[in-house]
Amino acid sequence: MTTDTTGTAARDGEPRRGGPADSPFVRACRRQPVPHTPVWFMRQAGRSLPEYREIRASVPMLESCRRPELVTEITLQPVRRHGVDAAILFSDIVVPVAAAGIDLDIVPGTGPVVAEPVRTAADVERIARIGRDEVSYVDEAVRLLVAELGDTPLIGFAGAPFTLASYLVEGGPSRTHAKTKALMYGDPELWHALCARLAEVTSSFLRVQIEAGVSAVQLFDSWAGALSEADYRRFVLPHSASVLGGLADGGVPRIHFGVGTGELLAAMGEAGADVVGVDWRTPLDVATGRIGPDKAVQGNLDPTVLLAPWPVVEAEVRRIVEQGRAAPGHVFNLGHGVLPETDPDVLTRVVALVHELSARPARQG
Ligand code: CP3
Repeated sequence: MTTDTTGTAARDGEPRRGGPADSPFVRACRRQPVPHTPVWFMRQAGRSLPEYREIRASVPMLESCRRPELVTEITLQPVRRHGVDAAILFSDIVVPVAAAGIDLDIVPGTGPVVAEPVRTAADVERIARIGRDEVSYVDEAVRLLVAELGDTPLIGFAGAPFTLASYLVEGGPSRTHAKTKALMYGDPELWHALCARLAEVTSSFLRVQIEAGVSAVQLFDSWAGALSEADYRRFVLPHSASVLGGLADGGVPRIHFGVGTGELLAAMGEAGADVVGVDWRTPLDVATGRIGPDKAVQGNLDPTVLLAPWPVVEAEVRRIVEQGRAAPGHVFNLGHGVLPETDPDVLTRVVALVHELSARPARQG
């Protein structure tokens, strides 16, 4: 790892000083020296914030994702309140699937519910290809946000083929993913056709966000941890790799995240990410040993720890910042999303603590 902290050497391929591409978050993703460990939280925009609940009280979830001014306001809320190092676009993994013509809703307290689950070749054909026209509201929201955010980077995101397929095949959230796995094992050809189509939708959705100006993208394969490594490699990795590999020319770091993926970390890195997200089950020093020295890591505070008394939170944050030093780049985050019952003031304190614990001498210009 380079120890250059002067910041004066304009190495080839490095962005100009200042601007979101030179922010601590993007630099950490690229394994470059940083003034402090950057921090953001999955689901930082959401029900933990009273200002979010107020806006959403009268607007259904999917509709709120399609109104660029609302998306902009909700995305900015946690940046203003907590001083996080990155914003994440307010949207949902099922937004592009809905844009592709699948009838679905996001039911409060449940999650995505699909009217007619996808289980046949004809069903796969119902998933249309999308482009900017189908998600013009996302294009518009990203452009508004990039203008508002200044030097703070905006993260775009999408769902990975396996996690999207699970919602589509099950018809809703599932603990066992039984119908999904039955299709995967029982009809591999149809499974691969479904995932290939979802990879196309996801790639297009991410491409729209990159062209509109996001500074990084995160591919959420939240439920991939339900699979063995062998099955992950056979049934999932090629499709996630097609998404991530297809964005190699996009010029922005690619983050790949799942829950319960301790046994999959190396494989998820091979799918083409620059940064691998790690949940709380695997310490970051162990995780980076599995992932290898050419990728940064992101994580990994257990979101339930935020419900504990502050000294417990503080000790865990210290441990994670310390273990993150073993990685060639570390973006502090939770191991999964912020729980709605989290006290937002605790999140604000965590941001300040991570910055304080990781502060390096200022770079001289
Ligand atoms: O701040 C952010 O992280 C950006 C916003 C974001 C949302 N969904 C908003 C949302 C992101 C990144 C997502 C991704 C998402 N959506 C994932 C992957 C990340 C993960 O949590 O693993 C998944 C699996 C989904 C599917 C989904 N959508 C679920 C499971 C739920 C929760 C259902 C519930 O009510 O508990 C949703 C709805 C959703 N997406 C909410 C938010 C803020 C809650 C809606 C509300 O406020 O009522």
